[in-house]
Amino acid sequence: MNLLDYLPGVPDFPKPGILFRDISPLLANPTAFKEAILQLESLAKQFDYSHILGIESRGFIFGAALAHQAHKGLALARKPNKLPLASHRESYGLEYGSDSLEIQQSTLPQGARVLIVDDVLATGGTIIAACQLLKKAGFQVAGALTFLEIAGLNGGEILNQKGIANKSVLV
Ligand code: PRP
Ligand code: MG
Repeated sequence: MNLLDYLPGVPDFPKPGILFRDISPLLANPTAFKEAILQLESLAKQFDYSHILGIESRGFIFGAALAHQAHKGLALARKPNKLPLASHRESYGLEYGSDSLEIQQSTLPQGARVLIVDDVLATGGTIIAACQLLKKAGFQVAGALTFLEIAGLNGGEILNQKGIANKSVLV
């Protein structure tokens, strides 16, 4: 099974020049989705982590499924003004715009070693922001795990240069 077949590229979305990877066909196929989570779980074993941080929106899907599969606790990095007890916010640039993420200080226990999980690694901006959020809150960053790294944007290398260990199932 080639999981990349379940992530068709949509040209020029949401802006001209961007090849958008649609995860919908993967999610709609239970065999493909299960295989994707098993492969994420296998890579996750290379990290020493106690909790997963899923990144809104699409990172919630992979983060929650992996947390369930690997029996780890799940914390949420949310878009602004969604969390009732948000205590840290970090703004960042995306391949096609800018955004912010927030986390709640009180959700994770002191000493948590957190694995950041997202669907796609493009420029790395989202994961760098998530990493900064966790550090601001005093948590250890175990690394970052994504399902797909977009080739040609050097996101993995950019994260490596910042000392953020990272793995992707597909590159
Ligand atoms: C997308 C994708 C990753 C991020 C990767 O999220 O889901 O989170 O971009 O890009 P980067 O490596 O350049 O930061 P986006 O915020 O576009 O949308 P979503 O809410 O659907 O996840
Ligand atoms: Mg996202």
